[in-house]
Amino acid sequence: MLGLIGAGAFAASYTAPILLWFHAYSPNRDERPTTRQIPVNSVAENPYDAVPYQSTSYPVTRPANLYTVGTLFGVSAPDFRTASVLELGCASGGNLIPLAFQYPDGHYTGIDYSERQIEMAAKTVSELDLKNIEFIARPFAEMPSLDKFDYIICHGVYSWVDDDARKQILEICRNQLVENGLAVVSYNTLPGWNMVRSLREMMLYHAKLFEDPIEKVSQAMELLRFVRDNNPEGSTYRNVIDSEINLLSEQSISYVAHDHLESENSQFYFHEFTAALGHHGLQYVGDSNISQMYVDNLPEEAAEKLQTVTDILRQEQYMDFVRNRRFRSSIVCSESIAVNRNLNMTAIHDFYLSSAIEPDEADLKAETSDTRFRDRDGNVVFTTHTKEAAVLFSELYESRRPIKSSDLVDMAARNLDDADHDVLRGVIEGLGLRLVLKGWITLHAEAGSHVSHVSEMPEASRLVRHQAALHGWATNALHERIGHDLFTRVLIGYLDGSNSLDNLCQIMSEQVDKGVLAVQVDGKDIADAEQRRLIIRNLTENALGSIAQKALLVA
Ligand SMILES: C[S@@+](CC[C@H](N)C(=O)[O-])C[C@H]1O[C@@H](n2cnc3c(N)ncnc32)[C@H](O)[C@@H]1O
Repeated sequence: MLGLIGAGAFAASYTAPILLWFHAYSPNRDERPTTRQIPVNSVAENPYDAVPYQSTSYPVTRPANLYTVGTLFGVSAPDFRTASVLELGCASGGNLIPLAFQYPDGHYTGIDYSERQIEMAAKTVSELDLKNIEFIARPFAEMPSLDKFDYIICHGVYSWVDDDARKQILEICRNQLVENGLAVVSYNTLPGWNMVRSLREMMLYHAKLFEDPIEKVSQAMELLRFVRDNNPEGSTYRNVIDSEINLLSEQSISYVAHDHLESENSQFYFHEFTAALGHHGLQYVGDSNISQMYVDNLPEEAAEKLQTVTDILRQEQYMDFVRNRRFRSSIVCSESIAVNRNLNMTAIHDFYLSSAIEPDEADLKAETSDTRFRDRDGNVVFTTHTKEAAVLFSELYESRRPIKSSDLVDMAARNLDDADHDVLRGVIEGLGLRLVLKGWITLHAEAGSHVSHVSEMPEASRLVRHQAALHGWATNALHERIGHDLFTRVLIGYLDGSNSLDNLCQIMSEQVDKGVLAVQVDGKDIADAEQRRLIIRNLTENALGSIAQKALLVA
């Protein structure tokens, strides 16, 4: 087996075996004074200063996505490329900085009361020499009130602050959005959080025994394992705990420290959230993931019943009950804007499309009239019944970049010996939006700034190279966080557009010679120089292909 060995692990892990401790305090330490001696606003006072949040990009929060959902529901939101964007609770800028980098004609402002995180953000801004972004280290209560914004992002904050800060968030959305502006606010929801809440309370109870934030996390996790392991296999309780452990095990320490162990964590029914919007002159536009709003995605019987509920807000509330939903990311706007919920099928032509469903090769070859399409797990999720539909959705799957429906029609027409363009457009209108609502086709407001193939002198953006070197992951052109293995991480550092494939292979060989990387077969270094050269070339070509496919190349 071919293996790559990296020098050093990227992050500490709390998944390694540890002991569960029930007596962390000595009697003396238990008698600590209850009033703190630490000055207010010192590093120790703010939990986000003590353990900064792992700050990263969230694709659904992109203004381009808010624009897309807004447009579908009849809100003509400002141009996202030149927009003025505010992020509330921006942490160290992991979401905002890639947006500022990608849209140099926009203006970006981040506010967060954690000075340490704002300093980290400012450092990245200066390293990337960005001129269109500023960060403010202040609580929301002190937000400069004169500025207006086209888009406001508030992700992962609303549930983790007190009532006052929650009101401030909605006030800022009401008073500081331009008339047709859009905001996205995410929050923990009920009923899904009911079960998680009792687990969080157990974790908090036990974590209080410990002072060190990292130890709090590892002990809280260990307590969950202890409770799970002492319940019978297959019991409902054990299954619930098990799935929470699985979910948390994939997250960073800072996620568990803040999302589960923070002193503030409030959850809301969707109807409570929309009522709060109403009190602040705001209204719900849609979910930042529109497939979540589609009632037909529920089991047939539930879908049939809930289709009879004509009030969309009530319908979504019932959908949350059925799904036991635990998190929402809602797009909101001023209540003065008319939101049109009757989707117009032709709206699909205004967007770029990408698809995640693959046509069955055998069906295509057999030239039957039916072609099955499968999701990533190989399940058949959709079957086309005409040649036109099969070709259109196969072309869409093949396209490595989001594509305008008019271009898709041209491509399919060529493939079908100049089939009628209107017929093909009709197929897209008839099926396209339904597939979007099912979540199998994604709508994009633009094609993205990336190239889909490896050029002679491949180039990753300065942002991608900076992030890869620093974190081992990078934000791609679709605002997704993409993790890298060590080989790819090192390679990305040299993708500045000045190296050909031959140069890159040479550079990677040198990295192996220097011991930065080790290339092994069956656990052993490769002695034969020619064999090693060939393997490194192969690895480099594969890594470049994958980097391109993941929308990380700009030239
Ligand atoms: C859970 S973190 C989420 C960070 C980021 N939005 C994300 O999702 O990755 C919450 C952030 O809100 C900030 N925050 C909490 N209350 C605040 C307040 N009243 N004023 C300003 N920032 C606040 C915290 O410092 C922290 O960075």
